[in-house]
Amino acid sequence: MDDLRDKYIAAIAAATDEATLEDLRVQAVGKKGEVSLQMRELGKMTPEERQVAGPKLNALKDEINSALGAKKAGLEDAALDERLRGEWLDVTLPSRLRGQGTVHPISQVTEEVTAIFADMGFGVAEGPRIDTDWYNFDALNIPSHHPARAEMDTFYMHRDEGDNRPPHVLRTHTSPVQIRTMEAEGAPLRIICPGGVYRADYDQTHTPMFHQVEGLAIDKDISMANLKWVLEEFFSAFFEVEGIKTRFRSSHFPFTEPGAEVDIQCSWVDGQLRIGEGDGWMEVLGSGMVHPKVLQAGGIDPDQWQGFAFGMGIDRIAMLKYGIPDLRAFFDSDLRWLRHYGFASLDVPTLHGGLSR
Ligand code: DAH
Repeated sequence: MDDLRDKYIAAIAAATDEATLEDLRVQAVGKKGEVSLQMRELGKMTPEERQVAGPKLNALKDEINSALGAKKAGLEDAALDERLRGEWLDVTLPSRLRGQGTVHPISQVTEEVTAIFADMGFGVAEGPRIDTDWYNFDALNIPSHHPARAEMDTFYMHRDEGDNRPPHVLRTHTSPVQIRTMEAEGAPLRIICPGGVYRADYDQTHTPMFHQVEGLAIDKDISMANLKWVLEEFFSAFFEVEGIKTRFRSSHFPFTEPGAEVDIQCSWVDGQLRIGEGDGWMEVLGSGMVHPKVLQAGGIDPDQWQGFAFGMGIDRIAMLKYGIPDLRAFFDSDLRWLRHYGFASLDVPTLHGGLSR
């Protein structure tokens, strides 16, 4: 019995995998195992012999079983350790190499604009880039015969003959979001809407896709004076120059009455543009008091409410602020350009933390 014990305890200790352990279990304590066979011999013994051999055999069986159990647990632990070592992962490592990607100037400027208007209580509204011609034109007081439709170089979505859904266009401006937001939220209202717009046009200052930010404020007693203050606050914050002056030139937009084009003060020194100084002027946006028909189209009573609106080119003010000469480069995805004009991805622009660094 001691030989049996030594043989199996040593073999179990030397086993390096679970299959070997299982073989040993079968050989020792399985149905026809050596220990089991010995137990069968008990019946042939005298009661005295049995009293000695019985407990010994049982103890041996227990000892072998618990050695098998302990070894099995040890092997499982070792396997787990091995796996954990292989699957080791340092979650504190940065997910990307530092300094690789950059934030596109259009995204950066959109964030800057949003931060500035948020500080003046404007929320951000959004609308679809593919919209019906009703939202893009009719609701904005541009009926189908209106020359403004022809001037816009609109991309119309394809329509099969017999398709009687309303015609859809790639929105030519962010102004349709005025209507959608009026419908959804009613008055009073104070929102901006930044986003992509489309026109069939291509040269140094025009691309088929570009970006605008629309502004809309509606309340009981809003006037052009509020518009002027808001825009001057915006431009001073955006160009990071105190007290930028604006010039309002009377203009016409179907969706405003009255309408104005707005210039900001600037000068050219040695061919370099300086915003917010001198006596030159640079056109930056269209604006006006929202036309009563537009309020009506948005479901707002023009006898009770009035407001101002403006629309400004994001790409254009990005070019002015960051000295980017050609609009087309915004959309070329040239890595060298993106590295040069892009922004660090973790510097989110805020008014208190700095808009651009
Ligand atoms: N939607 C005009 C455009 O794309 C810009 C504009 C002008 C927007 C005057 C306005 C506005 O909200 O009041 O050229």
